Amino acid sequence: PRPSLSLHPSQGLSLGDTVTLRCHLPQPAAWVELCQDGLLRSYKDMDKHQVMAEFSLVCVKLEDAMKYWCQYWVLEPPGVSEKSVPIELVVTDHRYSPPNISMNQEKIVEVGTNVTIQCCNQGYGGIIFLHKDGHSAPVQHQDPRGGGTATFILVAVTPADSGTYRCSYRPKASLFVSSPLGDSVTLEVTSTPARPGAELVSRGNLVVAVVRGCAAVLIFGLGVFFVIDARSLWIRRDESLGGEGI
Ligand SMILES: *[C@@H]1O[C@H](CO)[C@@H](O)[C@H](O)[C@H]1NC(C)=O
Repeated sequence: PRPSLSLHPSQGLSLGDTVTLRCHLPQPAAWVELCQDGLLRSYKDMDKHQVMAEFSLVCVKLEDAMKYWCQYWVLEPPGVSEKSVPIELVVTDHRYSPPNISMNQEKIVEVGTNVTIQCCNQGYGGIIFLHKDGHSAPVQHQDPRGGGTATFILVAVTPADSGTYRCSYRPKASLFVSSPLGDSVTLEVTSTPARPGAELVSRGNLVVAVVRGCAAVLIFGLGVFFVIDARSLWIRRDESLGGEGI
């Protein structure tokens, strides 16, 4: 069975840092090899009980930024394992300027809105990545094909899309080298209808209340008018009846 390879730290590695690659074995082995882009980079003799081989790269250089995998050898029966799934060792080179970022919407949007985030890498080509704080893997990536500007669309956002977004890019010249992360934009997705709608509703209620109030005053006024009118009629009738009696 194949071993698995992991990277520690798994991201945010800068030139000059130290990184450790760990090859995890499914069974004891005689030795373990670490391969770099198809070439043997290093090997470790193993004893019977070891299930992990550690390879440290001290003071990481640009030449170290590439694909790695490991494999192990057993003696009985003699043979080599399958290769592990390759991992990319991406090194951040702070000599590349961080990309610019912009968002075409307000900071606060309603559920279901399509939000567009654009990132521009000043013509270094390569691939532009959209990252979300708290997520280890980029949420989207794009090859703007010479344009230098990637347009990321978050389709029909939900409250789960709320958060802080940043971009980075891997210049065309060296695809395992990354720029630093750029400035951030913050998105907040509200689950309730947006404020203008709510205002309209309350304004509508106000109009209804005013109309009702006016109608009540009018009806009351009419009532009072009829009562007074009726009373004056009675008084006049009483007067005329009284006159006849005399
Ligand atoms: C959002 O994008 C999707 C897919 O591109 C499209 O079908 C939909 O009409 C868009 N919605 C709005 C409100 O623009």
